[in-house]
Amino acid sequence: MENERNLYHDLESILYTREEVAGAVRALGERITADYRGKKPVFICILKGASVFFSDLIRQVDLPLEIEFMAVSSYGASTKSSGEVRLVKDLDRSILGRDVIIVEDIVDSGMTLHFLKKLLITRGATSLRIAALMDKPARRVAPLTVDYSCFQIPDAFVVGYGLDYNERYRNLPDVGVLSPRIYAQEEQ
Ligand code: IMP
Ligand code: MG
Repeated sequence: MENERNLYHDLESILYTREEVAGAVRALGERITADYRGKKPVFICILKGASVFFSDLIRQVDLPLEIEFMAVSSYGASTKSSGEVRLVKDLDRSILGRDVIIVEDIVDSGMTLHFLKKLLITRGATSLRIAALMDKPARRVAPLTVDYSCFQIPDAFVVGYGLDYNERYRNLPDVGVLSPRIYAQEEQ
């Protein structure tokens, strides 16, 4: 039924169903809850891709956490990174002396998070970890460790559950591999 939605026609396959995603997010929330017991971490959502994952994850964490939002420039209309990272929206509050968890949708080259991690360390965070819904370790360029991830995936371009191609597909409830015919058409 759901798969008859028009957006699904642009997918090659469904990589993770909404049920699989929900299970993995719940397990990650429990792990973070145990790891940060007695602490009041600040969860930073990296807009826009992480927004769906972020809103589900924080509700699976049983801690007196706070939330913040940041935005960096990303791929634009392409499926490949420009290698350039630009800060588009900064934090509203200080993170000096705080335990920080950066929440990202997917780590690819690692350039975005390498940049953000360096920046937030200069802001005086006591500790800093990265939680990503997905990790594509085969594509890593920057030296970066992903502390928490729900799924390690092969080198494919995925959309849905917040992840976009050219600002579309974020509202798909499942995670799917985008059919190459979609970006072959648009990137000519
Ligand atoms: P990185 O700097 O190369 O690690 O790229 C990270 C950002 O690129 C992510 O936050 C996503 O916004 C975007 N990105 C990387 N891979 C994908 C993908 O497969 N689908 C959608 N967006 C992606
Ligand atoms: Mg993106």
